[in-house]
Amino acid sequence: MEMLAKGMLELQVNGQKMAVLARPADTLLHVLRDQLGLTAAKPACETGDCGACTVLIDGKPVKSCMVLAPEALGHEVTTVEGLKDSPVFQAFVDTFAIQCGFCTPGFAVNAHALINACPDAGDDVIEDWMDSNLCRCTGYDEIKAAVKRALAAKKGQE
Ligand code: FES
Ligand code: FES
Repeated sequence: MEMLAKGMLELQVNGQKMAVLARPADTLLHVLRDQLGLTAAKPACETGDCGACTVLIDGKPVKSCMVLAPEALGHEVTTVEGLKDSPVFQAFVDTFAIQCGFCTPGFAVNAHALINACPDAGDDVIEDWMDSNLCRCTGYDEIKAAVKRALAAKKGQE
């Protein structure tokens, strides 16, 4: 853990050390968006209910609206901007799992974590895992199909 000048934190984000100025009550979501320009994680409910703000901390999906920036010290934060090589993006496109796209970064991050943690995930696991994210416009069937496609693509890469 590294503390810099008062209010300055050094976070590890997408493989790089980044210094940010944060008050103790600032959420990770707002620091990522407002200070680092990583705007893919979206502020929507900001009560931990919708998953639009999902990022990875040490590879595990978390809702960044519910994490204080200082809590991320000493951990690796990954946003959707840091997952450019993930098979989930093409899978979402191929299965038409995107409409307005507002929820998509959160779903993509969560799906990426799933294909890494549970490479043999079946329908029940996919449903439970993705249950943390809400979409107001795309059918959930398309999103589930995208996750299955991403699982298959990841297996093909190995
Ligand atoms: S904005 Fe974080 S869960 Fe909805
Ligand atoms: S694609 Fe519009 S909210 Fe999910």
